[in-house]
Amino acid sequence: MLLRILLLLPLTSCYQEFTVLSHLKPKISDDVQAKAVQDLLVRLIPNHANKFLIKIDKNLEENGNDVFQLQKLENGRVVITGTTGVSAATGFNHYLKYYCLGQVSWDNSNLNIPNELPDVNLTVACKDKFRYYQNVCTTSYSFVWWTWADWEKHIDWMVLNSYNLVLSFNGLEAIWKRVYNRLNLTDEEINEHFTGPAFLAWGRMGNIRGWGGPLPEHWHLRTLALQHRILDRMREFGILPVLPAFAGHVPRAFERLFPDAKLSSTPKWNKFNDTYCCPYLLEPTDPLFQTVGSMFIKELIDEFGTDHVYSCDTFNEMLPSNGSLAYLHDMGLSVYSSMTSCDSKAIWLMQAWLFIHEIGFWTEERAKALLTSVPQGRMLVLDLQSEQYPQYRRLKSYFGQPFIWCMLHDFGGTLGMFGSVETINKEVHAARTMENGTMVGTGLTPEGINQNYVVYELMSESSWRSEPIDLTDWFALYTIRRYGQNNTNAIRAWQILKDTVYNFNLLIPMRGKYVLTRRPSTRIYPWKWYDKCDLLQAWDYLLQADLRTSDSYRHDLVDLTRQVLQVSIDEYYKTVRKSFKQRKVNDFQNVSAEFLDMFLDTEKILQSDKSFLLGSWLSAAKNLALTFHEKQLYEYNARNQITLWGPNGEIVDYANKQWSGMVSEYYFERWRLFINAMNDSLINQTTFNESGVIKKIFEEVEKPFTFSRKVFPVHPSGDTIAIAQEIRSKWWNIHHCRFTREQDSYLHVTDPVVLIV
Ligand SMILES: *[C@@H]1O[C@H](CO)[C@@H](O)[C@H](O)[C@H]1NC(C)=O
Ligand SMILES: *[C@@H]1O[C@H](CO)[C@@H](O)[C@H](O)[C@H]1NC(C)=O
Ligand SMILES: *[C@@H]1O[C@H](CO)[C@@H](O)[C@H](O)[C@H]1NC(C)=O
Ligand SMILES: *[C@@H]1O[C@H](CO)[C@@H](O)[C@H](O)[C@H]1NC(C)=O
Ligand SMILES: *[C@@H]1O[C@H](CO)[C@@H](O)[C@H](O)[C@H]1NC(C)=O
Ligand SMILES: *[C@@H]1O[C@H](CO)[C@@H](O)[C@H](O)[C@H]1NC(C)=O
Ligand SMILES: *[C@@H]1O[C@H](CO)[C@@H](O)[C@H](O)[C@H]1NC(C)=O
Ligand SMILES: *[C@@H]1O[C@H](CO)[C@@H](O)[C@H](O)[C@H]1NC(C)=O
Ligand SMILES: *[C@@H]1O[C@H](CO)[C@@H](O)[C@H](O)[C@H]1NC(C)=O
Ligand SMILES: *[C@@H]1O[C@H](CO)[C@@H](O)[C@H](O)[C@H]1NC(C)=O
Repeated sequence: MLLRILLLLPLTSCYQEFTVLSHLKPKISDDVQAKAVQDLLVRLIPNHANKFLIKIDKNLEENGNDVFQLQKLENGRVVITGTTGVSAATGFNHYLKYYCLGQVSWDNSNLNIPNELPDVNLTVACKDKFRYYQNVCTTSYSFVWWTWADWEKHIDWMVLNSYNLVLSFNGLEAIWKRVYNRLNLTDEEINEHFTGPAFLAWGRMGNIRGWGGPLPEHWHLRTLALQHRILDRMREFGILPVLPAFAGHVPRAFERLFPDAKLSSTPKWNKFNDTYCCPYLLEPTDPLFQTVGSMFIKELIDEFGTDHVYSCDTFNEMLPSNGSLAYLHDMGLSVYSSMTSCDSKAIWLMQAWLFIHEIGFWTEERAKALLTSVPQGRMLVLDLQSEQYPQYRRLKSYFGQPFIWCMLHDFGGTLGMFGSVETINKEVHAARTMENGTMVGTGLTPEGINQNYVVYELMSESSWRSEPIDLTDWFALYTIRRYGQNNTNAIRAWQILKDTVYNFNLLIPMRGKYVLTRRPSTRIYPWKWYDKCDLLQAWDYLLQADLRTSDSYRHDLVDLTRQVLQVSIDEYYKTVRKSFKQRKVNDFQNVSAEFLDMFLDTEKILQSDKSFLLGSWLSAAKNLALTFHEKQLYEYNARNQITLWGPNGEIVDYANKQWSGMVSEYYFERWRLFINAMNDSLINQTTFNESGVIKKIFEEVEKPFTFSRKVFPVHPSGDTIAIAQEIRSKWWNIHHCRFTREQDSYLHVTDPVVLIV
C-alpha cells in the first residue's frame, strides 16, 4: 500500500507526499463526532440507543487507518470506540449485522436488537484509508429531488457503511452564478447556460447547456441551504466532503466578454443539437483559466469551507484538443494550480473514466503526462469501474498516484438484477496487495442507486476485510439478516441468484436495457449471462419462503418477479419477431397478445411495493416547487430524464425505470402501438413502415408522456405475494423448465420458448 511503501522509501520528497495525504483528516472534535453517532442511534433504534456508548479515540489507528472496537460491559451496555465518527458508526453496523443479524438498507431495514445485547469483544482495523462514495451523476439520477429528510437518512447509511470521502454537489450553480455575475454575464447568458435540475451533472461536465432550464432563483436558495446542512452533518461524523474545482467549462457568453481567450467549443455530446450542446472549454493553459478557477474556488470555500479534496474532470467523455505530451502535462498543471491558488493543501480527485471512455487516445504515455503533471500524492485517482474495466494495471498504478478501487455497477439508475460478486470479492484484495501498488481506498461510484442492494453491501464491506470471503456463507447470512428469519427456501433462492444474475463477468457493457424498456424495434437481440431456468427456480424458492411479515422480503419478491417477467418478455419478443418475419398471422396474434399481457402483469407486481412507483419520483419533484411554473418545470425534468433524455430522445431510455406507471403509460403503450402496426401490416399484406411507426410512437406516446401532468399513486396497492403467485401460475409453463426440488436441482427440458413449431 502506498502509505507504507512511501514510509519505507528514503526519498524526502516521498515523505512529504505522505504528510500531504495525511492532512486529509476530520477537523471536528471527538466529542462532536461521538455525539453525531449517538444521535444516529437515536434516529435508528430509539428504544435501544442508550444501551450503546460511543467513544472516539484516534490513538487506535493502525498504520494511519481507521479502527473500530466493540466491547460489552458488565452492566450490559456495549461500548463502541472508533478512530472517527465514521468508524464508530461502522462498528455499530458491524454489530447490528453480525451480532444481532440485522440490516440497514436503502429502502427497508431489519433492526433486530434483542433486549439483552449479545456478547462482543472485537477490534477491526480498516484495510483502506479512504472509502469513497458517489459518481458525479448520482446527484442527478438519484438525489435530485431529495429533501433534508432523505439526505439525513442517506448520510446515516454512508457512515454505517464506512464512507469517509464523499461528494457533496448541491448549491454549486448558486456559487457559479455569483462568479458569473462578477464577470458581467447577463442573467440571460447565465440562464441559457445552466441546465434544469435533473440535468445539472452533465451541464457541470460541459456536455450540455440550458437543457431543462432555466433554474429558478428558488432552486439556488434551496440547494445552498441544503448543502450547508449536508456538509455540517458529514463533517460532524468525520466524513471529508469533496467539492468541485474549475474544470474549464464555461458559458458561451465568455466569447463576448473575453474575445481574446482561448475558447473552443466542447464536442457534440450524444445527439444534442447546437441549442443545447457544446458550451465552451477554456484552455487550461490560458491565463484566464487561473482567474476564473481561483474566483470559483474562493467563492466556494468562503461559502462552504473546505476539506481540501476537489473533484475535477476536464475531459469527461471528450477528447483534448492536442495530444502532445507537453500540452497534456501543462494542462494538468494548470488545472491543479487553480486549486492550489486558494488552497495550498488541495488534492485533485480525478475520475479515471476518460482512460476507459477514450481509451484509444489515452495511451500509457499520454496518461502518464497528465497523471504526473502534479506532484505525487497530490492527485487521488478514482479507478471508476474497477469491477469491469480496471485501468490501474494498464496504467501502472497511475504512475505512482494513489488510487481508489471503485465499483460503478449501475448506469442511469436502471433496474434489472445484475452484479459481479465474485469479481469484487477477489479483485479488491488482489489490487491491494499488488506489487508496487498505490491503492489507498475502495469506493462506490454508481450513476444511480436504489437497485441491487446486495452488491453494494458486499462491496462496502470489502474495505474492512483482509481476504476474500466465502460467498456462499455470506449470501446465506445476508438472507437471514435481511429478512430477519432463517428460512431454507429463501437462502436457496439467494444462492442461485449469487451464481447467476449476480455473477456477471463479461466485458460487454451493461446498460439496463431490455425489450421491456427499449424503444420498440424488429432488430433487438436480447441476451443474458445466466440460465433462465435457474432464475425461475430462485423465484420459485423465494415464493415458497413466504416471509410476508418482512418488508424486504416483499420488496425482493417484487424485484425477482419483475426480473422473471423482464426475461419472459425478452424471450417472447423473439417469438413475436419470428412469427412476424414468417408472416404467420395467427401465431403472431396469439403470441403478441400474450407478450403485451406480460407488460400488464409487470405493472401489477410493481404497483404492489413502494420502491417501484413512478408516483414517488414525480411527487418528490413537484414537492420542491414553490410556484406553478416551477412545478411544471420540475415535473417535466423528472419525466424527461427517465424517458427521452433530451427534447428529441437524444439519449432515449438511458435512465429507464422499471416502475409502476412507467410500464403502463410508456413501455406498454409503445409496444402496443408497434404490435398493432405489425398486425395491420400482416393483415393488409403491406410492408411494415418501421420508421414511420417509431415516429408515431414518439409523437403519440413518448413526447406526450414527458409533458403530461397525470398524477400517479405514491402508495402501493395489491398484495405482492398473491400477485406473484398469480403470475407464477399464469406464465410458469411457457418456460418449459422442470425442477426436482428434493435435490435442489432441475431438469432443463427445452431452451427457448417453443410456441411456434
Ligand atoms: C478482548 O479481546 C482481547 C484481544 O483478543 C483480549 O486480550 C481481552 O482479554 C478480551 N477482553 C475480554 C474482557 O474478554
Ligand atoms: C464588469 O463591468 C464593470 C462595469 O462595467 C467593470 O468595471 C468590470 O471591470 C467588469 N468586470 C470584468 C471581469 O470584466
Ligand atoms: C434543437 O432542438 C430543439 C428542440 O427540438 C429546437 O427547438 C431547436 O431549434 C434545435 N436547434 C437547432 C440549432 O437545430
Ligand atoms: C500542442 O501543444 C504543444 C505543446 O504545448 C504545442 O507545441 C503544439 O503546437 C500544439 N499543437 C497544436 C496543433 O496546437
Ligand atoms: C516494483 O518496484 C521495484 C523498485 O522500483 C522494481 O524493481 C520492480 O520491478 C517493480 N515491480 C513491478 C511489478 O513493477
Ligand atoms: C439456520 O438454520 C440452519 C438449520 O436449518 C442452521 O444450521 C443454521 O445455523 C441457522 N443459522 C443461523 C444464523 O441461525
Ligand atoms: C396460443 O397458443 C398456445 C399454444 O400454441 C395455446 O395454448 C393458447 O391458447 C393460444 N392462445 C391464444 C390467445 O390463442
Ligand atoms: C390484430 O388485428 C385483428 C383484426 O383487427 C384483431 O382482432 C387483433 O386483436 C389484433 N391483434 C393484435 C395483437 O393487435
Ligand atoms: C390495415 O388494416 C386495418 C384493419 O386491420 C385498418 O384499420 C388500417 O387502416 C389498414 N392500414 C393500412 C395502412 O392499410
Ligand atoms: C413511413 O412513414 C413515414 C412517416 O409517417 C412517411 O413519411 C414515409 O413516407 C413512410 N414510408 C413509406 C415507405 O411508406
